[in-house]
Amino acid sequence: MSGPNTDYDPVEVSTLKPDEVDAARDAALAAIADAADLEALKQVRIDHTGDRSPLALANREIGALPPQARKEAGQRVGQARGAVSKALAERQAVLEAEHEERMLVEETVDVTLPTDRVPAGARHPLTTGSELIADIFVAMGWEVAEGPVIEAEWLNFDALNLGPDHPARTMQDTFWTDPADDAMVLRTHTSPVQARTMLTRTPPIYVVCPGRVFRTDEYDATHSPVFHQVEGLAIDEGISMAHLKGTLDHFATAMFGEGITTRFRPSYFPFTEPSAEVDLVCFVCRGAQEIDGVTCRTCRGEGWIEWGGCGVVNPRVLRACGVDSDRYSGFAFGMGIDRTLMFRHSIADLRDLFEGDVRFTTAFGSDL
Ligand code: DAH
Repeated sequence: MSGPNTDYDPVEVSTLKPDEVDAARDAALAAIADAADLEALKQVRIDHTGDRSPLALANREIGALPPQARKEAGQRVGQARGAVSKALAERQAVLEAEHEERMLVEETVDVTLPTDRVPAGARHPLTTGSELIADIFVAMGWEVAEGPVIEAEWLNFDALNLGPDHPARTMQDTFWTDPADDAMVLRTHTSPVQARTMLTRTPPIYVVCPGRVFRTDEYDATHSPVFHQVEGLAIDEGISMAHLKGTLDHFATAMFGEGITTRFRPSYFPFTEPSAEVDLVCFVCRGAQEIDGVTCRTCRGEGWIEWGGCGVVNPRVLRACGVDSDRYSGFAFGMGIDRTLMFRHSIADLRDLFEGDVRFTTAFGSDL
């Protein structure tokens, strides 16, 4: 015969036995205290407060108890869980602080250690300056042309109407290569690139040619046996001196700023007719010839500074280079790049541009 199950007492459900709740709490507290780092504490949190942990299971059983037992068990389990989460939070704070402190020590940088880092160099002002000049012309639709520095005598001189008895052909100015029979020179100007361009292309031609040139000059603050020029050449129908003036005014303003234009003085070059020397408005006194009542030292009170040579291309040069001189005309100009950069950056000694001292070059590091 079956009777009431007198053994049945919901308070005695195994997971809710007070000593087991205490044991689960104590085990959790011990594990928390033992957790050596944040990673270990994370695992302790899962084991002791996660869904399958003894205290979570005990908590879930509470609802099934009769009211009186539910209250008692609720308090006991609630207190145990409260104690565990408090301990977890405290341990978490301690371990986080420890972690941070360790990181500060481990990641400390000893700024006194020697370094093998090489300082970043800067592009040479002659390179960036030549590019700047080329860009001014490329923006107008011109092309950049180049030629060899060891050049045929014929292209350096004859094609440009520099006859064999022209003073520029004497040994004083020109570096000749050995053997003399080869008739090769280190180009004395960038003008042979004009001849090369006309010989290989058909007009219209608009080219600018920056490059290195050589002359047997003494090396001093304003001369060097190696220096740089930029040559310009425009060949088209109906080209006149007016186009040349407009182009050089634009070049001057782009290089030196608003208000800096050019003037022409009559001159002679065998490859141009008429020819002119180009002067720039002095970019220091801006043509005023004096500053605060004192004569401008840069232009010596002239208001102008010599910049280069130019002219209308001599028809003899056009014909020597295979261009129909009845149909086409052109203009050409040539400036010293070094001189232009000395003006632009107030460089007092030309040699600074050639001696490779990084203290000089670095100052141009941000000048693109
Ligand atoms: N080639 C000349 C020199 O080295 C500079 C020059 C003058 C170039 C007049 C030209 C020009 O194209 O038209 O002194």
